[in-house]
Amino acid sequence: MGGYRLRTACSRTLAALLAACVFAAGAQSGAGDVVFVPTPQVVVERMLEMARVSRSDFVIDLGSGDGRVVITAAKKHGARGLGVDLDPGLVERAGKNAEREGVTERAQFFRRNMFETDVSRATVVTMYLLPNLNVRLRPKLLRELKPGARVVSHDYHMDDWLPDASATLKVPEKTVGTRGVSYVYLWIVPANVGGLWQLKITGPEGELSAELAIVQAFQKIDGVLKTGARSRQFSAARLRGERIGFTVTDEGGALRRDFSGRVQRDTMGGEVRVSHDGRESVEHWEAVRLSRPWPFDQRR
Ligand SMILES: C[S@@+](CC[C@H](N)C(=O)[O-])C[C@H]1O[C@@H](n2cnc3c(N)ncnc32)[C@H](O)[C@@H]1O
Repeated sequence: MGGYRLRTACSRTLAALLAACVFAAGAQSGAGDVVFVPTPQVVVERMLEMARVSRSDFVIDLGSGDGRVVITAAKKHGARGLGVDLDPGLVERAGKNAEREGVTERAQFFRRNMFETDVSRATVVTMYLLPNLNVRLRPKLLRELKPGARVVSHDYHMDDWLPDASATLKVPEKTVGTRGVSYVYLWIVPANVGGLWQLKITGPEGELSAELAIVQAFQKIDGVLKTGARSRQFSAARLRGERIGFTVTDEGGALRRDFSGRVQRDTMGGEVRVSHDGRESVEHWEAVRLSRPWPFDQRR
C-alpha cells in the first residue's frame, strides 16, 4: 500500500490542478463541483471489469458526462443503470448517445445533483470526480448502498477507506489530471458488524453460548470471543460485503474454530470448521447483535 499512499499524495496535488488543466486541454462543459472530463474508454472498460458488472447489475454513474460509463455497462455487459449530471447539455448528449447505441431501455440520464441522488438501488456506483468529492460522498455511499455493492473510482481515492483492489493503466492519450496514467480503485461496501453479539454454536455435542465483541473500520475487522471471564482474540478476520470469517484457537492451539458466514443486519451465522486434536467436524453458528458501538452507526 506504500505506492497507494504516494499516489494518494500525488493525486491530491494533481486534483487541485485538474480544473486548471482541463481548461488548458480545451475541455469543456460540465457543471457543479467538477468540470466534464471524459474517462478514456479503455479505463471505462477496466472499471466495469474490476466491478464484475453483469446483466444482474444496476449501475449509477455520479456525474455522468456524455454517458459513456452507463452506456458501456448496458451495451457490453447487459447491465441496467442511470447517470446523473448537473449540466443539462451533457444529460441531453448522454441520452442521444444511448439512443445511438440502442440502449435507451437500459441506460437513462437525468439532470440531478449527485448529492441528492438516491443510490440505494445501485449494485455498482462509478465516479470520476475529485478526492474531496469522493470523501464527501463516502457517508452517503456507506449509508445507502447494500453490503456487497461495488464502488469504482477513476483516479481518486476515498481517504482512509482503503480500496479492496486497484489497478494502474498506461493511457498515452490522457492529458488531464494524472497525464498518461489512470488509476482505478474498487471498494466493496462492507456490512456493518461492529458491536457486541450473542453467539450460539450448535454441534453434535450440544450447544455452546458465548459473546463476540467486534470492532470495525470499513472492511477491516477484529474481535474477541468471550465465554465468562475468558477472551480469545480473532485471527484471520475478514469481511467482504456481507461475507464474514474469523478464526479462534483454544487449548494452546489444540482446538481451532474457523468461522465463516453471512451478515444480515443484526443477525449473522454460518458454518464453523472445528479441528480438535486432529479430529475435524463441521458445526453451525448464529449470532444476534446485542448492541452497536457508540456513537450509533446508522448504516444498514
Ligand atoms: C470528470 S466528469 C466525469 C464524466 C463521466 N463520469 C466519465 O467518467 O466520463 C464529472 C462530471 O460531473 C458533473 N458534476 C459535477 N458536479 C456534479 C454534481 N454535484 N452533481 C451531478 N453532476 C455533477 C460534471 O458536469 C461532469 O460532467
